[in-house]
Amino acid sequence: MSEIIGKNIINLEIIDSTNNYAIKKLRENLTIDGTIIVAKEQHSGRGQVKNIWESAPNQNLTLSLILFPEFLPVKYQFLLSKIITLSICEMLDEFVESVSIKWPNDIYVKDKKIAGILIENAIMGSKIKHSIIGIGLNINQKKFKSDAPNPVSLYQITNMKFRVEEILEKLISHLNNWYNQLLNLKLKEIDIAFYNRMYRLNKWHFYKEENKKFKGKIIGVNPIGQLIIEKENGEKKTYHFKEVEFIL
Ligand code: BTN
Repeated sequence: MSEIIGKNIINLEIIDSTNNYAIKKLRENLTIDGTIIVAKEQHSGRGQVKNIWESAPNQNLTLSLILFPEFLPVKYQFLLSKIITLSICEMLDEFVESVSIKWPNDIYVKDKKIAGILIENAIMGSKIKHSIIGIGLNINQKKFKSDAPNPVSLYQITNMKFRVEEILEKLISHLNNWYNQLLNLKLKEIDIAFYNRMYRLNKWHFYKEENKKFKGKIIGVNPIGQLIIEKENGEKKTYHFKEVEFIL
């Protein structure tokens, strides 16, 4: 088993965003496969769709992982998201219960968000030239100030403080396991584990599409990562990110 992830770790005190730092290093050709960039503090942490990522200094894990998954056709890029979310979930299992993957890239504990992932892929033809996988995991933060709807930290759930370095070490080990599964094309194993973890899978809940509320049941994700929801009238519809909103 190769263990490339985390062989090279760059530790930063303060930076705008570890994803931005990774972009810069890639432009300068200064990176090796599996490099992790960790920052104690980000002053302009980025979330999905131009949101900010709130993380109090020294409290949480904010990192970017750089991979060169040239073996992975672009049309299967959602597999990267699957193995990253699975790794975070399995690491968290050690500390809390009810950890799930909320499509596409969030990690939930019950109905609250404990981690977010921002994957930025550089595509060349039909291949992924490089992937920057930004992970923000809330560990010791006591309060969240931003208007994010439902953030939560390990501390808020368990009333215990954790060593961020220890969490990182455990996460790296799960990331290596799942990345190896992907390298060995164990796609069935990845899918089974992913569906076992999927938030709201096969349950009826409310969603919003173009400002209209509807009742639906998530029945899966297609190979290009779109969410498939079955509606009450039996219609099955696929959604890109942001085309559908989960009503909590
Ligand atoms: C989300 O909106 O859920 C994605 C959040 C991703 C946050 C992480 S923190 C480390 C990395 N650097 C960033 O600027 N963002 C990601």
